[in-house]
Amino acid sequence: MNNINIIDLDIATMENNLPQLINMINDWPLVNWGKKNFMCELPGKWNYSFAITNGKRIDGFCIASEKITGFIYIHLLFVANIARGKGMGKLLINEALRRCNEYRLNGVVLRCPISNKDAVGFYQQLGFVISQILCDDISGETPDYLLKLNLN
Ligand SMILES: CC(C)(COP(=O)(O)OP(=O)(O)OC[C@H]1O[C@@H](n2cnc3c(N)ncnc32)[C@H](O)[C@@H]1OP(=O)(O)O)[C@@H](O)C(=O)NCCC(=O)NCCS
Repeated sequence: MNNINIIDLDIATMENNLPQLINMINDWPLVNWGKKNFMCELPGKWNYSFAITNGKRIDGFCIASEKITGFIYIHLLFVANIARGKGMGKLLINEALRRCNEYRLNGVVLRCPISNKDAVGFYQQLGFVISQILCDDISGETPDYLLKLNLN
């Protein structure tokens, strides 16, 4: 764990690391993100997005914005295959909560396909609760949970 750091994904750092970020999610079937998705402007995005580095390698990242006023809204949270099961996902959520405190926000919100049982279990283990079931254009054919973790 010695080389583990958290870096801000500000606009320049995001762009510099795009090949690695895109490569990380390349064989993951649930999202099909390219440059446009990583670089699109959203409120607060360059303050709330960050990555975990292990030396020069990115082990995990969180792309977030204030899409829902008063909350950090996580668009994509991802831990590299080789780094899973070692507390990296928890570190990402704890960092998002730390930023909620720093920016005086109420908590963290995200949507997760109900079918992604591992991720749902992970979020619930960390204290997220199901606040809605969403079946819309974004969820596609299978519904998503809207999961929420309030700071207090
Ligand atoms: C989901 C994901 C972020 C978890 O990351 P991780 O680094 O493997 O998780 P951690 O090792 O930090 O686990 C944190 C806690 O969650 C628990 N956990 C992990 N997976 C779990 C599961 N399927 N069910 C219940 N608890 C789980 C761990 O036991 C650990 O508990 P602890 O705090 O008591 O020790 C990672 O598997 C991933 O990136 N998956 C692919 C992308 C994805 O699905 N993203 C979410 C999209 S909405």
